[in-house]
Amino acid sequence: MSAEKTENVSWIDKRFPLTETWRAHLSEYYAPKNLNFWSFFGSLAILTLVIQIVTGIWLAMSYKPDATLAFASVEYIMRDVDWGWLIRYMHSTGASAFFIVIYLHMFRALLWGSYRKPRELLWIIGVVIYLAMMATAFFGYLLPWGQMSYWGAQVIVNLFAAVPVVGEDLSIWVRGDYVISDATLNRFFAFHFLLPFVIAALVFLHIVALHHVGSNNPDGIEIKAGPKGNRWSDKAPADGIPFHPYYTVKDLTGVIVFLILFSLVMFYMPTMGGLFLEAPNFQPANPMQTPLHIAPVWYFTPYYAMLRAVPPMWGSQFPGVVVMFGAILIFFVLPWLDRSPVKSMRYKGPIFKVATGIFAVSFIVLAWLGMQPASDLSTLLAQIFTTLYFAYFLLMPIYSSLDKTKPVPERVTS
Ligand code: HEM
Repeated sequence: MSAEKTENVSWIDKRFPLTETWRAHLSEYYAPKNLNFWSFFGSLAILTLVIQIVTGIWLAMSYKPDATLAFASVEYIMRDVDWGWLIRYMHSTGASAFFIVIYLHMFRALLWGSYRKPRELLWIIGVVIYLAMMATAFFGYLLPWGQMSYWGAQVIVNLFAAVPVVGEDLSIWVRGDYVISDATLNRFFAFHFLLPFVIAALVFLHIVALHHVGSNNPDGIEIKAGPKGNRWSDKAPADGIPFHPYYTVKDLTGVIVFLILFSLVMFYMPTMGGLFLEAPNFQPANPMQTPLHIAPVWYFTPYYAMLRAVPPMWGSQFPGVVVMFGAILIFFVLPWLDRSPVKSMRYKGPIFKVATGIFAVSFIVLAWLGMQPASDLSTLLAQIFTTLYFAYFLLMPIYSSLDKTKPVPERVTS
């Protein structure tokens, strides 16, 4: 580094811990040397969050959060604003890409046991991020003011009315009106603008927690507790390598592949056959005409299928609402359900592996069922797979203790 640059850096360092932070979190943050493909999704989640915030701000420059103007303003963005169509498609593709990345990121945590001690709080911050992402996506979905935006919001906000005693008032409070209206659109826009910054703050806490406990790895071995000394430092974990430049460069590979796939969708199939942008949403909202089949976007459909699987009781949908929200909130207690003596799936026994497989299949089947029009068969299937979904969590204390695990090696393996 040139003398002048060193001078500038030391001037900053006297006033701000720049080099110290760089060292602590990048060049001297030692991550396990055997991180693989599954570790791409954390940095891809950061990338997607940045794409959403930047394209969102640009969209907000031309978008009108007014029930009489909203739909036309999106059309104006698509047709008249310079590169408006690209910014819009980056945002709509980004929304789905964000959830694909997060579901794979969460699944990796299930495989490596990255919710177990000492990462319980890191995981819980993650679950809060997931909830904030779902709220952001829900608020954002109303903004185009298309048929599915309007009726999707009507269905979901009506669920609040199912809450005993306070339900009616609660749903009016959320809407700001007796039906989804201009008041609802305005406040949903405000929340949709605010929440990504809340998510960014949560991600900061998430990474601070991660760097405090250290990254987990496919073997589920705590490298910090292992032997010390590697070619970079005598004090560093022997199985650790500096995050920068080794994993920053490696993550770049993930970023390049991701951006190629992202561009393919954005330029050639932005609607993804109705999966990312539904056909009914290209019609302006019409409160007088209910679409034949109302379904949320694919990243919500597993929970929507669970809601529909529970028949109304005493004329109330509240039990279904409890199951739907319960399916997400149960993630908070996961760290305390898993009683296995080992963390990683590599050393867990057949029962845990089969249970995790059934859980993943149930989630995917429920996602598909949630997109289908309701029928007796789809309801029955949804009831079966909802039961399997909850069984994964509720029976975990039993099968994780019974399971025959394999011995975990002393050092990380490749
Ligand atoms: C905006 C959303 C998110 C961002 C930007 C993000 C970012 C990251 C990054 C950069 C890492 C380290 C690299 C890696 O191991 O992948 C990480 C690790 C982790 N994240 Fe997230 N995350 C997000 C959401 C979540 C969610 C929703 C969960 C769980 C519900 C979660 C749970 C975890 C766990 C348990 C680890 C530790 C992994 C390990 O050490 O093995 N994260 N996250």
